[in-house]
Amino acid sequence: MLNISVFTLFPALFPGPLGASVTGRGLQKKTWSLETIDIRSFTQDKHRTVDDTPFGGGPGMVMRPDVIDRALKGHFNQQKPSKLIYLSPRGKPFTQSLAKELAKSDSIGLLCGRFEGVDQRVLDAWGFEEVSIGDYVLTGGELAAMVLIDACVRHIPGVLGSSDSLTEESFSHGLVEYPQYTRPRNWEGREVPEILNSGHHGRIRKWRHQESEKMTKKYRPELWKAYVAGQKD
Ligand code: ADE
Repeated sequence: MLNISVFTLFPALFPGPLGASVTGRGLQKKTWSLETIDIRSFTQDKHRTVDDTPFGGGPGMVMRPDVIDRALKGHFNQQKPSKLIYLSPRGKPFTQSLAKELAKSDSIGLLCGRFEGVDQRVLDAWGFEEVSIGDYVLTGGELAAMVLIDACVRHIPGVLGSSDSLTEESFSHGLVEYPQYTRPRNWEGREVPEILNSGHHGRIRKWRHQESEKMTKKYRPELWKAYVAGQKD
């Protein structure tokens, strides 16, 4: 079973959306587990201070290394998890392949920063990997952690139904998903593409593949470039 420990100043945000749908059922069935650790409960001063001003000056506040270290030691008690990840916009990009890889671990520790971030020394001391979910800045790492967890746990056997895994396949082949249609056949004058009513599975597969290519070209030119380059090898 995959155990995920989230270190945060806002434990009440969890499980949030992870408690719904297939990820929520996975939690209930104990296919994976989620623990939240309130970083603030590891402070030792009267004001329960978790942050301080940055050395060298500059705006904002930085999370203190000693408080985070106590939270990590208190929780892991000498036994480090197989993966330690600090969610941060400067980290390596989160991808489908990293999601799959993480799903094979047995324990993951996720650190959510707030303010201007976390003192570098505690990241170095514990050997955190830094991961970003995209080139934009969130208010804190919590939403990023939820995105990472969601994309990861759906790869654990038994979490997803078999029909959902097909969708994923096509993404792993380097193209985005083709358009989908369901009833009614005619909706406000818009017809479902004729080919999908043909019952001709070979032609449908080919049409879907072409649509995937078109969508990838249109929305994800960099993926398209990589896909075309891959076809030549
Ligand atoms: N924390 C703030 N912004 C983030 C991002 N884009 N990815 C991961 N963690 C973050």
